[in-house]
Amino acid sequence: MCDAADDDSGIGQLLKNNAEWAEAVEAEEPGFFGMLAAQQAPKWLWIGCSDSRVPANEIVGMKPGELFVHRNVANLVQLADLNCLSVVQFAVDVLKVEHIIVVGHYGCSGVRSAARKDRLGLVDHWIRPVRDTLEENAEELNAIPNEADRVDRLCELNVLRQVRNLLHTQIVQDAWVRGQKLDIHAMVYGLKDGRMKPLAPPATAANPRI
Ligand code: CO
Repeated sequence: MCDAADDDSGIGQLLKNNAEWAEAVEAEEPGFFGMLAAQQAPKWLWIGCSDSRVPANEIVGMKPGELFVHRNVANLVQLADLNCLSVVQFAVDVLKVEHIIVVGHYGCSGVRSAARKDRLGLVDHWIRPVRDTLEENAEELNAIPNEADRVDRLCELNVLRQVRNLLHTQIVQDAWVRGQKLDIHAMVYGLKDGRMKPLAPPATAANPRI
């Protein structure tokens, strides 16, 4: 049997990092993993971009067990996406999260590629809804002379659009009808400063729009 920790392909380093991390967490809070293995009770669902520079837990300083996470290219909530909708349904109906936070980020390459109509392959099909958001907001976006600023504004508009998609789901509507606490937040994250910024007041049962 080979010892993966001696593997020089790179995975050995990851396993070493993992062992050190697990030891450090357990040293700081003995019994932490045993407690987590028994149950998870996160209050938050994070829907964000797959971008490696936007690591959900780290950005908001949350430990394992505190954040339920779904990520895809350009943080899309598409109403025919069984993966995303299953995550939302499980989070709301079973875990009973109290907040869903849709987090876009400035400089998103998925959003930029949609704006430029790049030909990248299958992913072009995935990010096509961003193009629709661009076309719906063409007047505002075309008035922004600099491409980076235009893409950043489209990143914001994309988040707002995805939150609206989420608000239209039966999952969210039913949760509100039965009186479950569920607040939906639209946020954008800055790669350049590490700061997360709300784009609108949260949508709640009492104020169900963004
Ligand atoms: Co991105």
